[in-house]
Amino acid sequence: MGLELQSPIVAGACNLTESPETVKKMEEAGAGAIIFRSLFEEQIQLEAFEHDEALTQDDERYAEMTDIFPKIEHAGPQDHLEKVKEVRKAIKIPLIASLNCINHDTWVDYAKKLEQTGVDGLELNFYYTPTEFDKTAHSVEEDQIKALKAVIKAVKIPVSVKLSSNYSNPLNFIKQLDDAGAKGVILFNKLFQSDINIDSLELQHPYYLTPEGEYKDTMRFMALLHGNVNTSLIANKSIYHGKEAVKMLLAGADAIQVVSALYKFQVDHIRTLNNKIYSWMSQKGYRNLNEFKGVMSRKNVSDPFAYRRSQYVDILLNSKQLFDKKYLP
Ligand SMILES: Cc1cc2nc3c(=O)[nH]c(=O)nc-3n(C[C@H](O)[C@H](O)[C@H](O)COP(=O)(O)O)c2cc1C
Repeated sequence: MGLELQSPIVAGACNLTESPETVKKMEEAGAGAIIFRSLFEEQIQLEAFEHDEALTQDDERYAEMTDIFPKIEHAGPQDHLEKVKEVRKAIKIPLIASLNCINHDTWVDYAKKLEQTGVDGLELNFYYTPTEFDKTAHSVEEDQIKALKAVIKAVKIPVSVKLSSNYSNPLNFIKQLDDAGAKGVILFNKLFQSDINIDSLELQHPYYLTPEGEYKDTMRFMALLHGNVNTSLIANKSIYHGKEAVKMLLAGADAIQVVSALYKFQVDHIRTLNNKIYSWMSQKGYRNLNEFKGVMSRKNVSDPFAYRRSQYVDILLNSKQLFDKKYLP
């Protein structure tokens, strides 16, 4: 994103990053940057609705708004902006605000308001949940590119985009984001999904950490994108240990966002991740990240089938090893 970081390990958007004390600990542990938790359209609209006298507790829209984050304490937008300012004052490393909106005007208004808090960058959290049968994938992408362009026009700070992996062709969409001026892409967000409680026959909305080992999709896209786009590549999802961070850098990531690992191992784990990257580098004789960033990307590996369909087919066709005793319970 054009920001110089003391380390490639970044604390991703979550509830931990809204506490000045916690972000200070992250900075001391060697975090390169912090992403403040997202401000959501629903928070903004809920506050606006609460000021709307026509809206009552029985109103269906009100019920949906108050139900969207049922178990999560969330502040209104003013409160959010104040908290961003407090965190900005607490640390010296770059702080990036995150925004997740639906309406065009809200994207632009709140991008400007977040910029005024003094943050160093803005992360747009694109999170589309399909509910309509007649909306095409193309029109979803068009709306998102339009929002990105409007935000870039409205602010001076660098703007990045965080994506889920639910696109038919993430490579094409990322190219469009790159062309539109996104300074970074974060791959991939984890979407929280509702679950059914079979005893009470109720829907539940659990908070859960990403399971370990689910980093390979991200790694593959880092490898395919490295050297093919101008935008910075930021790896996210299921990066728990130093070896996974090293793999992302080898695939071509410029930085790595971690969240679940910080919940599981506490924020001082950032120090462990940095130490592991450093000791691996020393062991391999690398002096800086640029010496090995992307050496395992698709552009740089000699195997012409690397990261392609044929590898996947090859694994499936040679699945005899699954019947080997060591894979069976
Ligand atoms: C408790 C919690 C809160 C989160 N809040 C946000 C958020 O406000 N904005 C956002 O873009 N992602 C949010 N996320 C998603 C994370 O930033 C991250 O993209 C995701 O958890 C995958 O990374 P991980 O495997 O390292 O956890 C949250 C995740 C957790 C576990």
